Amino acid sequence: MGGFSYRNHELFCEEVKIQEIAEDIGTPFYLYNYDIIVGNYQRFIEAFKEFSPLICYAYKANSNLAICKVLASKGCGADIFSGGELFKARKAGVPPDKIVFNGNGKTRQEIEYALEENILMFNVDQRDELLLLNELAKKKEKVARISVRVNPQIDPKTHPYVATGLANSKFGLSFHQAEEVYRLATELKNIHILGIHTHIGSQITKTGPYLETLKMLNEIISRLEKTGIEIRYLNLGGGFGIAYREETVPSPQEFATMLSPYINRDYRLILEPGRAIVGNAGILVTKVLYVKNTPSKTFIVVDCAMNDLIRPALYNSFHRILPVNNKGSEKDKTFLVDIVGPICEDGDFLGKDRRLPALRPGDLLAILDTGAYGYAMSSNYNLRLRVSEVMVIKDRYYTIRESETYEDLIAKEIIPEEME
Ligand code: LLP
Repeated sequence: MGGFSYRNHELFCEEVKIQEIAEDIGTPFYLYNYDIIVGNYQRFIEAFKEFSPLICYAYKANSNLAICKVLASKGCGADIFSGGELFKARKAGVPPDKIVFNGNGKTRQEIEYALEENILMFNVDQRDELLLLNELAKKKEKVARISVRVNPQIDPKTHPYVATGLANSKFGLSFHQAEEVYRLATELKNIHILGIHTHIGSQITKTGPYLETLKMLNEIISRLEKTGIEIRYLNLGGGFGIAYREETVPSPQEFATMLSPYINRDYRLILEPGRAIVGNAGILVTKVLYVKNTPSKTFIVVDCAMNDLIRPALYNSFHRILPVNNKGSEKDKTFLVDIVGPICEDGDFLGKDRRLPALRPGDLLAILDTGAYGYAMSSNYNLRLRVSEVMVIKDRYYTIRESETYEDLIAKEIIPEEME
């Protein structure tokens, strides 16, 4: 639990007592540990340093501006999936030549925006996108740099919703199709081929699927090079898993050791980690509202819900849940409980069948490893206000996003005049 620890039964993030933050700003809130974020990024750089890697942090995992700025200031690039993410990356100070644009549905406006910004490259998902890109680049008298996203049709052994490199996935192109798109690209005046891209899925906890993918990419690269197509960037995507249950997952160094012999040093390596940079750096702090006993279960009703953290409801994901004050855990008196939110759905749970000490209204809980795809996937469902976010740097905490207000809920709504 690096960066989060108990002292005298109280949970701390570095030198800051979490209970005190809760007293200051109220619950629920996301809390991020600066040192963990920076450390995670640096581990990738260090592990792959012989390839001078460009780490393009996946903005979708957590695009809080302060987090993005921290990473940008350390030299980290951005993997973006939308115009919004491009906007954020530029606001965070990411130079355009460290931005790669992914996605299977880039709109004309998004492409134009990215061309104006002169981003490093577009990872093209299909033929028609390439043609549109060429047309728009021509209009702007620019040359668009591209990679083609290849789907290696490999099972990354993860949740089916996030396995993006399977044969039936909507992303990328088969080898055969990719070769055709590369050939077409050589004929287009406003397109310049820069590299090759793949991303096989998320929360991958084995090195095998990456190795298999890399070997296949090497094959396609050598076929391309035989036809005179030069590849300069090798982008293996993101997907590096984290230990949600304290299981062992490969570290960046272990991935690097396994993959290095197969990475050609002539290419610049790009990786797009999201979860592995911010996942274990974040916790969601919530307060117990009620304890409810029914004939079959005990429910701990807390003040956060599936709108704040949808992963358990959506993927049946497991997040460890700890008491912020763990005095009760000692007496060996724990109870089997479900931790649920206040939303009008039975799918609104944060954890099921968990052993926790006796809890009372007002007690605080920390839901761990929620730095990635936590706030990023939150919503206003049930018209709940999106929560605040704080960042702890050593012995201080900073609010990096205020919680929403009721006025925010209607800020963009318009009542037609006739209805007034
Ligand atoms: N690159 C591409 C092209 C991606 O599609 C993704 C994630 C990443 C990089 C970053 O993947 P990561 O390193 O974070 O695994 N909402 C799901 C995860 C969806 C991931 C989508 N694509 C979850 O909560 O588990």
